[in-house]
Parts: sequence; structure tokens; C-alpha cells
Amino acid sequence: MAIQTTQHIWHNGSLMPWADAQIHVMSHVVHYGSSVFEGIRCYSQGPLEAPKGAGIFRLREHMQRFLDSAKIYRMPLGYTVDELCSAVIEVVEANDVSPCYIRPIAFRGYGEIGVNPLKSPVEVYIANFPWGNFLHGNEGANVCVSSWNRLAPNTMPALAKAGANYMNSQLIRMEAATNGYDEGIGLDRNGTLSEGSGENLFLVKDGKLLTPPLANSALSGITRASVMQVAKEMNIEVVEQALPRELLYICDEAFFTGTAAEVTHLRSVDRILVGDGTMGPITRRIHREFFGIVNGLLPDRFGWLSPVTVKSMSVAGETVNA
Ligand SMILES: Cc1ncc(COP(=O)(O)O)c(C=O)c1O
Repeated sequence: MAIQTTQHIWHNGSLMPWADAQIHVMSHVVHYGSSVFEGIRCYSQGPLEAPKGAGIFRLREHMQRFLDSAKIYRMPLGYTVDELCSAVIEVVEANDVSPCYIRPIAFRGYGEIGVNPLKSPVEVYIANFPWGNFLHGNEGANVCVSSWNRLAPNTMPALAKAGANYMNSQLIRMEAATNGYDEGIGLDRNGTLSEGSGENLFLVKDGKLLTPPLANSALSGITRASVMQVAKEMNIEVVEQALPRELLYICDEAFFTGTAAEVTHLRSVDRILVGDGTMGPITRRIHREFFGIVNGLLPDRFGWLSPVTVKSMSVAGETVNA
């Protein structure tokens, strides 16, 4: 994802110029990975030719997860969930661009250089930059099972969306790319399915939607929760249970969910086709509903979108590969 700069970044309560948002090389986070962050989409709403507004996807849930991640790491942010939501809206409106990607981040800054972070100051930043409402191509993702496991319980907390967790994600992602795959799926410590390097995983078998529970080292994905909400409303049974690796090869359908992936079906796993490789019927129903709501083409009946006032609206619906 290339970054297109915007004008402002929110820092500790006020807006500053993008170019001035810099940190010292001796900041704690640079050495020890002491950061927590979020990734959020703001969607343009309405018909592709004439967007009629912008909405931030599940803003409150993202900011609550941000606070939860910080709490696990004893990192006081000094802002309530409401204040953080207002800060996101402030920076998105100041930068005046939709669709966009929003990146709140908090970290231990310049203070002491010992491992103990508690004496290094906590810095909170929120940036955003243009990022399309992508309608993914229908070809799906070719993925592998990684030789790297996800984070073992009681090592790095998987429920914290912490920068350091993404060292594991990078290993999975690099290995997949080196071997010609779009993405890798990590197993948990017991060898059961966990998640992609940056996505939650769903399988469809005999009409049921199966997904690993959070105890299998998966992030509590906000897209995951949204898809489960949609599926339940469609009377599709959703089962959270430990899943063996080989179910990937014999399931009827499989897909990833996440802020970046949205809902992306898996075409193959370890070069074995999932079903016939095309998007299966249950994935298609969920995909259609999800994109309909976030793009404002269907009513926002779950209250997922926080409206923002943005004048520079680019057109949604560019087709790219997932
Ligand atoms: C490791 C990991 N799992 C799952 C997800 C999906 O979470 P969400 O839907 O909240 O973006 C992400 C993306 O943030 C992630 O990095």
C-alpha cells in the first residue's frame, strides 16, 4: 500500500503538519517494538459515479480495541473512546479526503532506553491518507500454510494489535511472497488453524461457517465480527471451533476478512483448489451484503458507519486484485 500524503496528522490532542510528524531514533518503540495501532477504512457512500457522503467503518469498535491493546501493555493513552473517535473525525475532516485509510498509533517515545517502557512517554498519533473503496477482482487469493506458527499463548498477546506482533506477520508474508503465494495462513501452537498474517479466516463446510476462536491466537477482527453478524442474520450457522489444517483442503469455500482484505475468497491453498476455485455461494452472499452496506448501496442497518463531512470525494469501485 503506497502512502499518498495528506496535510495534517493528529498528535496528542492537536493537528500538526504531516511533514513534522517525526520521532527520534532513540525512541523506545524503534528498539523494542512498543506500539499499538489500528487500521480503519473510511468509505465513500452511494453510487460509484456520484458519492453522496462518507462513513468511517465501525469507528467506536476500532477505538475500543485500540484502548484494549494499550491496556494490555500498560500504556495509558489519556483519552476516552469518545475523545479518540472525535479525534479521528477531526483529522479525516481536516484532510478532507474519502475514501481513505485511517491509522491511529500509540507508542513509547523518547525517554529511557532500557527495556522497561514505563518511563518513556506515550505518544498518540492519528494519520489518514487516500485509499480506494476497492471492489476486489473475483479471481481470489492463492495462499499457503506457513511454516511459521502464529504467536503462542502467553508469549505475545494476540488480542493486542501491537506493532511487535507484525514481526511474526512479516515472516509469514515474506515466506508466502517468496514462494509465489498471495498470503500465508499461520497455524497456532497446536497446529490448528489460526489466521492469515493480517486477516481472519473463515471456512464453509456443509452450509456452516467455521472460524477459529480467539483462543487459537487470532486477532479479534472487526470485519470478522461484522461477517458473523451478517451471517447470523442470514440464518447461516456460525461455529467458532478449533479447526484442523486439512479442513482447508476439503472445505467447500474459504475466505479472509480484514480491514485490508475486506471479504476475499481463497482460490487455492498449497496449490489445491478450494471448491472449484471460484467464489462460492455463501461467500458471495456475505460479500455482496458487506460491500453493499459499507459502500452505502444498502441501508446501514447495523449502524456500522460514522458519517464524516468530506468534500473531496473520489469515485469508489476501482477494480484491483485482492
Ligand atoms: C493479524 C490480523 N488478524 C486479523 C485482522 C483483521 O482484523 P480487522 O477486521 O479488525 O481489520 C488483522 C487486521 O487488522 C490482522 O492484522
